[in-house]
Amino acid sequence: MTKMRSLVRGVGKYLPEKIITNDELARTVDTTDEWIVQRTGIEQRHVAADGELTSDLATKAAQEALKNAGLVAGDIDLIIVATTTPDMTFPSTAVFVQQKLGIHHGMAFDIQAVCSGFVFAVATADSYLKNRLAKRALVIGAETFTRILDWEDRTTCVLFGDGAGAMVLEGVELPDDQADQGILGSRLRSDGEHWDKLFVDGGVSSTKTAGVVHMQGREVFKHAVGMISDVIHGALDDTGYEADDLDWFVPHQANRRIIEGAGKKLGIPPEKVIVTVDKHANTSAASVPMALAVGVADGRIKPGDLVMLEAMGGGFTWGASLIRWT
Ligand code: ACO
Repeated sequence: MTKMRSLVRGVGKYLPEKIITNDELARTVDTTDEWIVQRTGIEQRHVAADGELTSDLATKAAQEALKNAGLVAGDIDLIIVATTTPDMTFPSTAVFVQQKLGIHHGMAFDIQAVCSGFVFAVATADSYLKNRLAKRALVIGAETFTRILDWEDRTTCVLFGDGAGAMVLEGVELPDDQADQGILGSRLRSDGEHWDKLFVDGGVSSTKTAGVVHMQGREVFKHAVGMISDVIHGALDDTGYEADDLDWFVPHQANRRIIEGAGKKLGIPPEKVIVTVDKHANTSAASVPMALAVGVADGRIKPGDLVMLEAMGGGFTWGASLIRWT
C-alpha cells in the first residue's frame, strides 16, 4: 500500500533592509528598550521601504526557497500566500507573486488567518497535494504589517515588523513503510468570540479604509499558552508522537514569554526552540516560515528531524503542524 505525502523541498526568507531598533522607537514614542526587551524579547524590527509591497517580499522569499529546493518557478502549480496586509483588496497577493515569478499555469490564492495564516496555508496546501489538485506548492507567509500600525500607540507599535518566508512542498506517493516523512498532521482552530481582543479597526465593507491594529495584550497573553498547547497535543495525538520525540519547536514569534510559557507547559527544553522574535519582532503570518528558514540555514533543522510548527493570532485563530523534515 502507498500514502500521499507533502514533502518539504526547500525554505527561504526575505527581510527588508531597513531596521528600527528599540532605542530608535523610544525617540518617537514613550517607551524604552528595557521595557520592550523585558516584556517581549524584541530588540529590533525590519520595516519595508516606501513602495516595497507584500508581494515583493513574498517573491524574494519564494525565489530563495525555490533555489534551496533546486527547482525553478515553472515547477510550481500552486501558490498560497498567507497575509493580513495584501497589496490590494483584490486581486490576491498570490497572483502578484505568480506574475512576478513568471508563472502562467496552476493556481494562486490568499489565506487570511492573521498570525496563524502560514500554519493554515501549510495544512491547505497539504490537502491540495494529497488530493492531487496540484503537484508542487509554494506556501508563503508575507506581511508589511508596519503599514497597519498606529505609530503613536506604544502598546502595539513596538511589537510588529515586516518580512516574508516561503516553503516549497511536493506531493509524493510513498510506500507505507516510507510514509513517515513530510507533513504528518495538522490541527487548525478558530473562535470568533474573541475577535475584539485583537483586530484592525477598518475594512472594505465597514469603513472603506485599512484601519490600524488594536490589541488587548493581557487578554491575548491569557489565552495564548493554553490554545497553543491544545493544538500541539492534538497534532501529537493524531500522529502517535509525544512532545519528547520533537527535535525542533518552531512557534509563532510574537513574544518570548509566550514562547517560553508554551515550551514549559509542553515540556520542550529551550535548546529545541527556534527563536527569532528578538531580531524580527512579530511579523504575523511571516514569522513561522522565517524562523524555519533561519533554523535550516544555520544547520539546526536537518533532514529526518521532527519539527512542530505552531501559531496563534487574531480571531482568535490557532493551529499546529507536525513535519518530518526531508
Ligand atoms: N513601553 C512602555 N510602557 C508600556 C508600553 C511600551 N511600549 N506598552 C504598554 N506600556 C505600559 C502600559 O501603559 C501599562 O502602564 P500602566 O500600568 O501605567 O497602565 C503598563 O505598561 C503595563 O501594560 P500591560 O499591557 O498590562 O503590559 P503587559 O505586561 O501585559 O505587556 C504585552 C504587554 C507585551 C503586549 C503583553 O500583554 C503581551 O505580550 N501580550 C500578548 C500580545 C501578543 O503576543 N500578541 C501577538 C499575538 S497575536 C498576533 O501575533 C497578531
